Amino acid sequence: MREEDELEEMYNDKSGGGNAERTTFETRNRKKRIAYGAAIILMGIVCLFFIGLIVWGSFHLYRHYVTDVHDKRESDEYLRKLVRQVNDSPDSTWKAKFNKFGVKNRSYGFTYTRNQTAVEEYVEHIRKFFESEAMKRHLSEIENFKDSEIPSSFDARIKWPNCPTISNVPNQGGCGSCFAVAAAGVASDRACIHSNGTFKSLLSVEDIIGCCPVCGNCYGGDPLKALTYWVNQGLVTGGRDGCRPYSFDLSCGVPCSPATFKEAEDKRTCMRRCQNIYYQNRYEEDKHFASFAYSMYPRSMTVSADGKERVKVPTVVGHFNEKTGKTLNTTEYRNIIKKEILLYGPTTMAFPVPEEFLHYSSGVFRPHPLDGFDDRIVYWHVVRLIGWGESDDGKHYWLAVNSFGAHWGDNGLFKINTDDMEKYGLEYETAVV
Ligand SMILES: *[C@@H]1O[C@H](CO)[C@@H](O)[C@H](O)[C@H]1NC(C)=O
Ligand SMILES: *[C@@H]1O[C@H](CO)[C@@H](O)[C@H](O)[C@H]1NC(C)=O
Ligand SMILES: *[C@@H]1O[C@H](CO)[C@@H](O)[C@H](O)[C@H]1NC(C)=O
Ligand SMILES: *[C@@H]1O[C@H](CO)[C@@H](O)[C@H](O)[C@H]1NC(C)=O
Repeated sequence: MREEDELEEMYNDKSGGGNAERTTFETRNRKKRIAYGAAIILMGIVCLFFIGLIVWGSFHLYRHYVTDVHDKRESDEYLRKLVRQVNDSPDSTWKAKFNKFGVKNRSYGFTYTRNQTAVEEYVEHIRKFFESEAMKRHLSEIENFKDSEIPSSFDARIKWPNCPTISNVPNQGGCGSCFAVAAAGVASDRACIHSNGTFKSLLSVEDIIGCCPVCGNCYGGDPLKALTYWVNQGLVTGGRDGCRPYSFDLSCGVPCSPATFKEAEDKRTCMRRCQNIYYQNRYEEDKHFASFAYSMYPRSMTVSADGKERVKVPTVVGHFNEKTGKTLNTTEYRNIIKKEILLYGPTTMAFPVPEEFLHYSSGVFRPHPLDGFDDRIVYWHVVRLIGWGESDDGKHYWLAVNSFGAHWGDNGLFKINTDDMEKYGLEYETAVV
C-alpha cells in the first residue's frame, strides 16, 4: 500500500508542475497507465512476498507442532510405562496413577546467580545462631529426650489439633518456590505451636520469594536461608487474605512444569506493603520473627558465584557426631530429627525427585526401579515433614506435605521411604520461634 501512495504522489507532482499545460491529453493518459501498471506489479510483488512469508511461517509452525506432538507422545508412552512398572511390580510399596502433568527429566537451562557477600553474611548468621545460649538449651533438650519415648508413628496434625496450618496443603503453581513454601509452612506451624494455637495465620511465601534474593527465586532456593530470613527480617502473614498473598499462576498444572517458571521469575518483585483487604496492620507491624534457624543433617552452603566454593555450616546431627566421636547411623540420626519434630513441630525436607514421584497416588513411595535413578531425577524438591510411621514390612517412612495442591498424590500428602536416597544427603532444616 505504501508503495502505491508514493507513486501517486510522484504522478501528481509532475502533472501539477509548470510543464502541465504543454502535456497533451494522450501522453498524460499513457503516463497514467504506466504508473498504474507499475503500481499493480509492485502490489503483486508485495502480495507474493507476504504469501511466501505466511507459507514459510506455517511450515515452521507445523514442523514445531509435529515435533512437539511426537515428543509428547514419546514421553507420555515412556511415563505410562513407568507407572505400569510400579503398579505391576509385586514388591512395590506404593501405587502410581498417570499424571498428565508429570514430566520427563530434562535440562531447562536455568542460570543461577549468587551474591557471594550476601551468602557469606547468611553463613555468619547461621554460625552465630548455633553458638547462642538458646541453641545450647535446645541441643540439651534433644539429648535428654529418651529414644525409648519416641513413638513408632507420629502425625503433627494429631498432636497439635489447635494448629490448622499443619494440615494446610499449599500450591506452588508456576514458580519453583517449593523451598519458600516449605519454609513458610514450617514457620506458620511453629509460630502456631509456640503460641499454643492462638496464632493461626499462614506466613507469607511471597515475602520470601519476593524480598529475599539470597534465599532463592522461581528456579529454586535454600530453605535454611529462608528460615534465616524469618529470624532476621521476619515474615508477614500470607495465605489468601493476609498481608502478602501468593501471586503466582496456579492453573498451569499439578505440578506446573519447570518450563513455566521463567514467566513467574520475570514478574517476581518485592512489595513491602499489605494488600488492600488486609487493612488493619501495616507491613512493618505485621512481621513475625523466629529466634534462630538451623540445619538438622550435616550440609554445606555454596558461596561463590561459580558454585565451586562451599563452606560447612554447623548442624544438630553434626554436633552429636562430634560429641560422640563417631558418625551416627541412619536410625540414630533419624531419631534426632524425630525428637525435633515431636518437641517443636514440622521441619523441611529436601530430596531428589525422580520422574515416577510426580505420578504418586498412595502408599509408601520408594524410587522404582532403583536402576537408573540418577537419570530420572527431575529436580531437587523441598517439602514439609510432619510425621513418620512404619510400613507393614517394618520399614521406616516419613509423612510429608507436598506443595502441588490438594489434588496431587494422597490429598496433597505422601509417605516416603528414604533408604535409597540417603546417599544424596537429604536436607532437614528448621527454626525455633
Ligand atoms: C550483595 O549483597 C550485599 C550484602 O547483602 C549487598 O550490599 C549488595 O548490594 C548485593 N549485591 C548485589 C549485586 O545485589
Ligand atoms: C493450650 O491450649 C489448650 C486448648 O486451647 C488449653 O487447654 C491449654 O491449657 C493451653 N496450654 C497452655 C500451656 O496454655
Ligand atoms: C545404629 O546404632 C545403634 C546403637 O546406637 C544400634 O542399636 C542399631 O542397630 C544401629 N542401626 C543400624 C541400622 O545400624
Ligand atoms: C535424563 O536421562 C537420560 C537417560 O535416560 C540421561 O542421559 C540424561 O543425562 C538425563 N538428563 C538430565 C538433565 O538429568
